[in-house]
Amino acid sequence: MPGNATDHKGVIADSAMVVSANPIATQVGIDILKQGGNAVDAAIAVDFALAVVYPDAGNLGGGGFMLLRMHNGESDALDFRETAPQAATRDMFLDAKTGGVDRERIEHTGLASGVPGSVDGMWTAHTKYGSLSWSALLQPAIDLAFRGFPISERQAAELNALRPDLEKYNPGSSYFRNDGGDWKAGDTLAQFDLANTLLAIRDYGREGFYEGGIAFLIEREMRMQNGLITRTDLSDYHSVWRKPLVGSYRGFTVLSMPPPSSGGVALLQMLNMTEPYPLGSYGQHSAQAMHLMAEAEKRAYADRAYWLGDPDYVKIPVQELISKAYASTRMKDYAAATATPASGIQAGSIAGYESEETTHFSIVDAMGNAVAVTTTLNDSYGSHITVSGAGFLLNNEMDDFSAKPGTPNMYGLIGGKANAIAPGKRMLSSMTPSIVLKDSSLFLVTGTPGGSTIITTVFQNITDVVDFGLDLQASVDASRFYDQWQPDVLYVEEGGFRQATLDSLGAMGYNVNTRKPMGRVDAVEVLPGGKLEGAADPRGNDKATGY
Ligand code: DON
Repeated sequence: MPGNATDHKGVIADSAMVVSANPIATQVGIDILKQGGNAVDAAIAVDFALAVVYPDAGNLGGGGFMLLRMHNGESDALDFRETAPQAATRDMFLDAKTGGVDRERIEHTGLASGVPGSVDGMWTAHTKYGSLSWSALLQPAIDLAFRGFPISERQAAELNALRPDLEKYNPGSSYFRNDGGDWKAGDTLAQFDLANTLLAIRDYGREGFYEGGIAFLIEREMRMQNGLITRTDLSDYHSVWRKPLVGSYRGFTVLSMPPPSSGGVALLQMLNMTEPYPLGSYGQHSAQAMHLMAEAEKRAYADRAYWLGDPDYVKIPVQELISKAYASTRMKDYAAATATPASGIQAGSIAGYESEETTHFSIVDAMGNAVAVTTTLNDSYGSHITVSGAGFLLNNEMDDFSAKPGTPNMYGLIGGKANAIAPGKRMLSSMTPSIVLKDSSLFLVTGTPGGSTIITTVFQNITDVVDFGLDLQASVDASRFYDQWQPDVLYVEEGGFRQATLDSLGAMGYNVNTRKPMGRVDAVEVLPGGKLEGAADPRGNDKATGY
């Protein structure tokens, strides 16, 4: 549970580290590294393993981002975000009568899904950086799907709670259901159709998913669920190598994900807006520190809503947005003792929450290559629709588009034209896989799930370590807060903050509210001397293992 110690160390190892949301997947990554695979090989194997043992967010039917930095200093960013099908239209989620967004249609129908990017992403990463054979990276996932694995207590509870939805949205199918009734911790979940899908991917590469039998099954499911994805959409899907965003913070170099993630831009904006102030001297979780950070967050989220979308469709002034000069203009109206109401913040000019599940993992190999991957179905278990015959869940990522300007999505995020739906376009994301360098050497590999709270959680992870001097594990454990501009609320994790601090923030004009745990940071830090610290988030069943 969230805590507030400053000196709590995670798992320490000499040469390599894997930190993921699931102990079985973490072990898969370690095994691949020990077989001589590099961090990218391990990431691919962990990603496929998570699709089996962590179906809440691990996936074949979703998408994500991979940020990597090789030991020679080369860095790269792979965008395997889902795309809108060719038949998608701007207003496809608006109710004909009310004109509002039809929440059921955007979350739990065939229309909710973007064209999946994960399999192409792993294939593309392997083509450029892989060193072990593709089939060796698929095999652990195949074995886990065929033989089954013991589910955790949390998974048993989740799958039991999901049962009514699975039955409602997948008539005639029995995926993720226990014939004997309720699931219990330790029960074995075997997934034979999923294993066969993985076999097709192992034997035919990306074509095993985007062409042939599996593509046919996806299109058939779409027809049954009134969805739009066709075999042409699938065969046309391609992930994209992009240039990582690069910024600096107090002498550290920060690499992060460019659009269509909003994460890198917003993270660098927040760091830039904070940098001129002596944040470290304010004290972690002091009202002064939280105020400064929340003001930076609000301004960055206002910009996100106006400026950001798929860079292949809209022109985004990225370099201006992440410049120090722009940050200083943005903070001109910052008042040290008063909250700026959301209504007082607009995008700058340039010259309730659902259960949330995405997953992030961080890997460093013995050569010093580092990989950060964040991947998702959007909501926990995606649209709750499975592909009959193929055994995997589909995403409901279309909700990350701005379905109607100014109307919040499931994370309360609003957007406009830049993130409107268009055929083939990628929906804006908050996923923020990030790598921090110190004196040009690898320092921190980090990221988290958490919907709109992802960016602020990574922001706090970096400021905890850089400004407040926390050990990595202490930062991962530390209670979190965030303010995403709209709604005009400063959310704090329940039980993690002093009442006097919250009262001071209230007096400054913040509407302070509590919410359940946010984020699950899985991160690696290179310690002075070169050892690695792996920090797994105690909010989940996450696991760090090194050697
Ligand atoms: O890409 C995004 O920003 C969202 N689809 C992420 C969703 C998420 O993090 C849910 N989980 N915790």
